[in-house]
Amino acid sequence: MVNKIEVIDVHKSFNGKTILSGINMQVEKGTSKVIIGGSGSGKSVLLKCILGLLEPDSGKILIDGKDVTHLKEKDRYQLMHQFGMLFQNSALFDSMSIWQNIGFGLTQQGKSPSYVKSVAIEKLALVGLASDIAYLKPSELSGGMRKRAALARAICLEPEIIFYDEPTTGLDPITSDIINDLIIKLKNELGVTSVIITHDMHSAYKIADSMTMLYKGKMIATGTVKEIQNTDNPYVEQFIHGKAEGPITQEIQDHIQ
Ligand SMILES: Nc1ncnc2c1ncn2[C@@H]1O[C@H](COP(=O)(O)OP(=O)(O)OP(=O)(O)O)[C@@H](O)[C@H]1O
Ligand SMILES: [Mg+2]
Repeated sequence: MVNKIEVIDVHKSFNGKTILSGINMQVEKGTSKVIIGGSGSGKSVLLKCILGLLEPDSGKILIDGKDVTHLKEKDRYQLMHQFGMLFQNSALFDSMSIWQNIGFGLTQQGKSPSYVKSVAIEKLALVGLASDIAYLKPSELSGGMRKRAALARAICLEPEIIFYDEPTTGLDPITSDIINDLIIKLKNELGVTSVIITHDMHSAYKIADSMTMLYKGKMIATGTVKEIQNTDNPYVEQFIHGKAEGPITQEIQDHIQ
């Protein structure tokens, strides 16, 4: 299999505090990689390093085998066109209508407003939202609707790679499953490569081809859903079952005391 994304020995610190400590990860073309790990374990930072929104202190990021770690602004901009991103907080522009938000990339390419609007409405339907939503502002939508609108924006330019930061957090179970099915559909029908951060194990097991757990700046486990479910690593076992007791809580308690 071809690796679409390769993370090689990436380190990242903020103000002397190590967040990523030698991360190695591969995502095969056309597959879905789910990243799990506790709050503050560096999942979003890793995603931002892959996206080029943060620069690693050392190590490399390869996309399609090409080193993209230290690109010039123009090349970075070009690369970003291959990426769709669903941010943790949806990150819609408050002053724009939903169709303007969804079609932002198309507008930047100089497409006409009527074309942008029609594509935006098409993408809204894909994420299960009615066309009249297109004319509302983000503040007029519920959290779940905003998330779906943000997903419609992420897929608007038909990217080859989509990054999802907690796509189902805060959504009701049915809407969550619509998002899960959409992630699977984008992979199966368009061959999209996906990287998904989630705390939602039901969602992780449904969408992942491969799962990786981050803990204290390192990847402590990588495998298929079955392999992760059958792990004998006590940290992974505790995390995926959401148990209060185990090595992870002990350390948090020690830290607080
Ligand atoms: N730009 C930044 N400057 C300084 N510190 C940062 C920055 N971004 C993240 N951090 C720190 O890096 C650590 C990891 O943050 P990150 O957002 O990656 O966590 P996470 O695993 O995504 O957690 P959550 O599950 O809560 O979203 C945190 O301690 C955070 O404060
Ligand atoms: Mg995060």
